[in-house]
Amino acid sequence: MLIVFYFLVLLVVIFFFGRWFLAIGYSGVPYVGINLHALKEGMEMAKIFSGETIVDLGSGDGRILIAAAKQGAQVIGYEINPLLVWLTRWRLHKYKNARVICRDIRQADLSGVDVVFVYGIPGLMPWIKNFVDRFHHSGLRVISFGFQIPGYTAVEQRGLARLYRFD
Ligand SMILES: C[S@@+](CC[C@H](N)C(=O)[O-])C[C@H]1O[C@@H](n2cnc3c(N)ncnc32)[C@H](O)[C@@H]1O
Repeated sequence: MLIVFYFLVLLVVIFFFGRWFLAIGYSGVPYVGINLHALKEGMEMAKIFSGETIVDLGSGDGRILIAAAKQGAQVIGYEINPLLVWLTRWRLHKYKNARVICRDIRQADLSGVDVVFVYGIPGLMPWIKNFVDRFHHSGLRVISFGFQIPGYTAVEQRGLARLYRFD
């Protein structure tokens, strides 16, 4: 009987967390929240206008989503870790203009997006470049925390935050 119970627990863990392990294995990006100083600098550089659409690729606990939502933007986070998604949904409950989707960033939709935030790792950045190439349009801004996007030149850098603009 006990073995059946353990088996069911294992199935539940695989169901909820399997995608997370696979995605982290693919992207290698662990959860580390951006520090508040860097977040403030990134938000200032992004110059978000009310009504713009903002995406955070790998939104963690939702701190970037909340900061952008406070500026009146339409905000979408993509996050693969279900625990962080639940935490973020709870934190976002009073922001009708913000939501988080439990989805791999490879399935993110950047069409019509004005500002993209990403806090990745060096190995992810070539993929970010190809992804942005697919979607980029005039006026798109990308804020990358920590790491450069290869092949693009940042128009501004403050501490950890780099701003890329596509005109
Ligand atoms: C370095 S943290 C950044 C969190 C948040 N953007 C911030 O700056 O505070 C990266 C986040 O990406 C998530 N992540 C990693 N690989 C992912 C993937 N393939 N799809 C979606 N989210 C992913 C991790 O779970 C983690 O929460």
